[in-house]
Amino acid sequence: MQPMNRRSLLKIGGSAALSTLLPVHKTQADQTMEKFSSSSSRAYALKAQPTKIQIGPESAPPTALWAFNSQLPGPALRIKKGNALHVIFENHLPEPSSIHWHGVRVPNAMDGVPGLTQKAVSPGEQFHYKFRCPDAGTFWYHPHYNSSEQLGRGLIGALVVEDDQPVEVDQDLTWTLSDLRINREGQITNNFGNLRDAAHAGRIGNVVLINGSIKSEFTFPTEQRIRLRLIAASNARVFGLRFLGGKPWLIALDGHPTPVTTIQEDLVLAPGQRADLIIDIPATDALRVEDHFYARSAYELARLKAEQPVVIAREVPATLRRNPINPPVLTSSTRTVNMLIEGGAHSPVASANAVWRLSGQSMTVHADQQGARHQAPSFRIRPGETIRINLHNQTSWLHPMHFHGAIFQVINSQTDSVMGALRDTLLLGPGEKTSIALCADELGIWMIHCHILEHQSTGLMGVFEVS
Ligand code: C2O
Ligand code: CU
Repeated sequence: MQPMNRRSLLKIGGSAALSTLLPVHKTQADQTMEKFSSSSSRAYALKAQPTKIQIGPESAPPTALWAFNSQLPGPALRIKKGNALHVIFENHLPEPSSIHWHGVRVPNAMDGVPGLTQKAVSPGEQFHYKFRCPDAGTFWYHPHYNSSEQLGRGLIGALVVEDDQPVEVDQDLTWTLSDLRINREGQITNNFGNLRDAAHAGRIGNVVLINGSIKSEFTFPTEQRIRLRLIAASNARVFGLRFLGGKPWLIALDGHPTPVTTIQEDLVLAPGQRADLIIDIPATDALRVEDHFYARSAYELARLKAEQPVVIAREVPATLRRNPINPPVLTSSTRTVNMLIEGGAHSPVASANAVWRLSGQSMTVHADQQGARHQAPSFRIRPGETIRINLHNQTSWLHPMHFHGAIFQVINSQTDSVMGALRDTLLLGPGEKTSIALCADELGIWMIHCHILEHQSTGLMGVFEVS
């Protein structure tokens, strides 16, 4: 484990990122980084700023975006399980911002929700995030202020927490999947927060990107085994990935280990969700990845192919090691809470400023101008207590519901027991009813919201309290 210094900081980002990882106040930040250096921590400087990036083909003009360190996605942060992450965040946007660490079990004060867990970081200001990463897995980061616009302009990034005994692969790759809504001039369509998107399926973009790029052919020198970490970082687009010409294994969902199974059906990833796969890259025919989520607009997302065949005996990958989490436990005394989702286009409960309702309330901002008011908690739990939540999506739309500071498992209604992976984001289809068993261990008031960000800002938010 090396101590953190400028050199290793620069190495992390790769040479292309060299200049962009340097903070503005170079000496001051350098000193701060050194202060943060230790064998069990890693420091990064992240600067949210307007920038221009070549997204379209070379003949097209670069696209004006907002991005972390002028990269789309932002620098991929990597840290060892159990180590502390220090991020010096600088806001150079024309409006306030913050960073939320999606899926990481952080103390409440580090959760990055302005008005709830911290003050918004004003333009020109800094905020220091500092927390341990207790779980290995694939996570991500993004602002939690004016989210639909800030993410919709490019503020997203991957956060990988490495296990000290990782599964054996030749390469460990991350694909941050996102989309942008781009006009004929190659620029972001400036219609954020419009009622039409908010009341329907959200701001679905027209250009789908893998790691910020339209590149779709991935060639490997020889046949090899990769770990592919997929992050759905789109504002509203749901992915339904179909793998043709190969059989990937699923090893983790939302960062946490699953039993190792080959993927049989389309792998559905809604905004916020992650999946880790093991893929043997073939040399014969390419492995094709198609997205069939919206049946009438299916497209090919990527092709992966090796140039040279090699003979290697491959075993079924080993199951990942468990994370140090106490999973939810259902008992006869587990309390139950009902959460109803209502609203959307044509719904009688929808109005122009509150399109959606969660448990009878429309929460559209984290806090008022004075910075304090937020909704009464939908439920309260003690640290370590499991609660059963009966979610009912009474609307005609999809809602990937995300709980901060908590993990949950779906309850099988037949057997009344928990099943499947530990997750932090659950996709509810139109009319769907699902019960989950949820628990949390950090004290505080935590967000619940739809990760279709235009739904979030028009009412589909709430909070719960751990006390
Ligand atoms: Cu990924 Cu509240 O967010
Ligand atoms: Cu929604």
